[in-house]
Amino acid sequence: MFVSDCLNVNDKGHLSIGGCDTVELAHTYGTPLYVMDEPSIRQALREYKRSIDENYENGGMVAYASKACSFKEMYRIVAQEGCGADVVSGGELYTAGQAGFPMERVYFHGNNKTNGDLRMALEYGVGRIVVDNLYELEQLSNIAREMGKTAAVYLRITPGIDAHTHSFIRTGQIDSKFGFTLQTGDAMAAVKKAVKADNITLRGLHCHIGSQIFDEQPFIHAAEVMLTFMDEIRQETGITLPELNLGGGFGIRYTASDHPKAYGDYMRLVAGAAKKKAEELDFPFPYIVIEPGRSVVGTAGITLYTVGGVKEIPDVRTYVSVDGGMPDNPRYILYQSAYTALIANKADQPADQVVTIAGRCCESGDLLQEDTPLQFCEPGDILAVLATGAYNYSMSSNYNRLPRPAVVMVKGDTSRVVVKAETFADLTRNDV
Ligand code: LLP
Repeated sequence: MFVSDCLNVNDKGHLSIGGCDTVELAHTYGTPLYVMDEPSIRQALREYKRSIDENYENGGMVAYASKACSFKEMYRIVAQEGCGADVVSGGELYTAGQAGFPMERVYFHGNNKTNGDLRMALEYGVGRIVVDNLYELEQLSNIAREMGKTAAVYLRITPGIDAHTHSFIRTGQIDSKFGFTLQTGDAMAAVKKAVKADNITLRGLHCHIGSQIFDEQPFIHAAEVMLTFMDEIRQETGITLPELNLGGGFGIRYTASDHPKAYGDYMRLVAGAAKKKAEELDFPFPYIVIEPGRSVVGTAGITLYTVGGVKEIPDVRTYVSVDGGMPDNPRYILYQSAYTALIANKADQPADQVVTIAGRCCESGDLLQEDTPLQFCEPGDILAVLATGAYNYSMSSNYNRLPRPAVVMVKGDTSRVVVKAETFADLTRNDV
């Protein structure tokens, strides 16, 4: 019935997540409130891990892309599930470190890592640093030399695949701020430099073709392009790179019209094509890393709000205002992202009006959804927006000095706070 398996309607007619009544959660913890279903997160990680084990005999790693949702308990869960983590900043790395995350399973990304980031990555002993450009390669080599360390690196390659048009338009993807371009020869030149660089060990390559992708073809194409390039490297330099990181990007269900494949199916199709390509090239199959973010946490999360004013403008539209908005979910104002919303305390009633859900910021564009079906609603109702587990909390802000909501994790009929709600005092803590 809903976009996520962890959601249901209970005997009170309320929306439930796991075994918890969302209306009770809203009353216990206050709104706005992020709620995440822990078993769903663990299940997604396990499914990915199982499909790596089943499809890649030479082994591999599921590195959760923590930009999707980053706080200490997330890293603990990921570590407990035997997975790795992709981090993109000193802040994410620090959070992982504070959670005791095993650093050898960390992949450090970013197109403009600072020298401080690079130093921190070496101090922490992260597993792989994914080098994005020649300046960074040089800086990393110098810093590693100074510190008496050796950095194990991947090079981020831009394989020239435009996943979002489904037509593999090469020029489209050449125009990217990320990575070394394959078609221009920059990628091969970077490989040769990395091989020679002091205090650097080149372990493999990385690519990431986009996000919220439903079609398996671009993933297959990327894997084939990368293996072909690894074979070219072998021919030109005699070096057989042992690892390949294929990034993340698997799509999730935000609304009833989204139909993602089961992750295991994506993985089987991509692995099959990749293995075929490696056989054709007679290339030893590399250790595979994947970096799912959205598909690990997205449908595990919901956000709960309390409805305030309802403003009906005859023949124009009805605005339903809630006590959150763009600071806790900037994805509608940024990308016009579609979401499913419902009134949690009337989840068993038909959604027979069409409304626009407005946030509480002084900004006309602060909307959570326009022209969306909703149950009849009145002030005090609890509104739930579904599939908000990815890129909501992690992209939240304090715009209009709104404190960030708490994150509550549910497991069966139990719930616990994993990130406390910010207070007004938190807002002025760094003001002088
Ligand atoms: N690996 C790399 C190198 C990435 O850049 C990303 C996402 C991922 C993995 C994870 O991709 P996922 O599995 O989550 O699709 N803020 C946007 C999404 C930006 C994604 C950036 N990179 C949104 O809210 O839709």
